[in-house]
Amino acid sequence: MPDRTVYLETFGCQMNELDSELVAGQLTALGYRLTGEADAADVVLYNTCSVRDLAEQKVRSRLGEIRLRKAEEPGLVVGVLGCMAERDGEDLIRKFPVVDVLCGPAELDKLPGLLDNAVRTRESLVADAGDEAVLTKKNGRTVHASAERSAKVVALQGDSSRRSSTLAAAGDSLEMLDLSRAVSPHDHDGSAYVRITRGCNKFCTYCVVPHTRGAEIHRPPDHIVDECKRLADAGIVEVTLLGQTVNHYRFEHGSSVSVSGVTQPQKGRTYKGSHHRDVYAGERVTTFADLLKRIHDEAPGIQRLRFVTSYPRDFGNDVLEVMRDSPRICRYLHIPAQSGSNEVLARMNRGYTVEEYLEFLDRARHFLDEPEKGRPLMLAGDMIVGFCGETEADFEASKELLRKARYKNCFIFKYSPRPGTTAYDRIADDVSEADKRRRCNELLAVQHEISHGISESLVGSVQHVFVQGVSEYERKRAKAADNGMISLTVGGRSDLGSTNAAVLERASGPVQMTGRTDGDLIVVFDCPESRSATGLIGRVVPVRIARANVLTLFGELV
Ligand code: 5AD
Ligand code: SF4
Repeated sequence: MPDRTVYLETFGCQMNELDSELVAGQLTALGYRLTGEADAADVVLYNTCSVRDLAEQKVRSRLGEIRLRKAEEPGLVVGVLGCMAERDGEDLIRKFPVVDVLCGPAELDKLPGLLDNAVRTRESLVADAGDEAVLTKKNGRTVHASAERSAKVVALQGDSSRRSSTLAAAGDSLEMLDLSRAVSPHDHDGSAYVRITRGCNKFCTYCVVPHTRGAEIHRPPDHIVDECKRLADAGIVEVTLLGQTVNHYRFEHGSSVSVSGVTQPQKGRTYKGSHHRDVYAGERVTTFADLLKRIHDEAPGIQRLRFVTSYPRDFGNDVLEVMRDSPRICRYLHIPAQSGSNEVLARMNRGYTVEEYLEFLDRARHFLDEPEKGRPLMLAGDMIVGFCGETEADFEASKELLRKARYKNCFIFKYSPRPGTTAYDRIADDVSEADKRRRCNELLAVQHEISHGISESLVGSVQHVFVQGVSEYERKRAKAADNGMISLTVGGRSDLGSTNAAVLERASGPVQMTGRTDGDLIVVFDCPESRSATGLIGRVVPVRIARANVLTLFGELV
């Protein structure tokens, strides 16, 4: 039945980008056509994020806008996927009847069935409205009678992932979605995400993720290694492993369960540390360190292997040793501290102190920071300002932590109370919006200086740059010259290939390219006219750095 066009817009994190890519692949295989033009689509899907209210506000405003279109095109199907669907549930449909489909992040494998159902239901709603009752006038606009009735097709996990006791229940059909991934190097321009765990068991008091993505489950290592090998065979050069607490990966083979010959993902256990091998007779464990080594050794076509996001507890030396001894694993860690105050960290339920956090950074630098060999360790962080009860002294401690950590970049967020979390229910949000804003700006200024210092220290060096495509500047220029005709968003990252091709087709003279170092610093350089820009994309090339600003290094191809 498909032969319908779908517009899929993604909000939020890398996990969502991967989800969108898998959804897009699944729908394309069924005959849907993806488009970058929302106005031309028969089905409009928003893959949403609930981590902060700002992300939800953007989706609410999209839903407000699309309501106007549906008034005139009542056959249009609108779907909300991801965390906001899971968190708001059917309330979202009550508030926004324009929404026909709700699909939580743990139910995405069910989306094709839901869409099919929604398309048919909408068709019959439109037909039932009857010829005479079709049109009414509202505020001077024509509104189809059926437009304000939702098809109401819903798949949410509720609390089921935490209630279910069987190991298989949490993941089997969702695992098939990852397993059925279609791989096209053109779509990715050489870079891809691979999920290793889903969900989170940490329950930081401010965070909605354990409530929306459910309990932590770990994918079988063979599935992950096979996916990496398939990606490498298809020409993928860079793989980023994804997990909310990626270093907690652990798979116990003795207790793995198979359904129809497919090994099932496994629920996370109380974590005992990856270096702590509590193995019983007849049982074998794949730790995160083992998994990294297997991917590195068994998929040598992957020239860059990195992983996000690390949790600052239980990060064993075994992982650092594998990173040190594996030339294709990047010297890069994204390891959020969230606060520099022990009191705030305790209220956040983070489970470590500032001293323990900094001890880990020292240990990581001891193993991995080798600037003299051209392999400095680059760190990235996340910080929250204005969390419940944060005093000026707590905030000063966060500044101090930034100065000691010396991240190459740090994402800084104002605390956003999220309904359903412990902090929302039990701890007063008592820092004013003005103080949150000021603290955010002050912390950004501290980080700005640190980032600039790190970038400047690389001027004169030769960096090995993984080329991703034309630079942002080049894209904007092409888009302006083309009256906005070049589409920049079609589901996940699958738009990259076509955008690069479209820009390069129109370019004349030297094209500005962009890529990233092993430590994830952005590098911009001109492709000389003697070289093919298309040929550089997806490759690692040497670039001599000539100058730097806070977030970007500028150089020349060596
Ligand atoms: N308010 C502000 N920032 C948050 N984060 C998670 N939840 C919240 C919240 N309620 C931040 C954390 C996390 C990142 C993904 O988002 O810093 O690491
Ligand atoms: Fe949220 Fe904490 Fe889990 Fe990260 S570790 S996803 S901040 S609950």
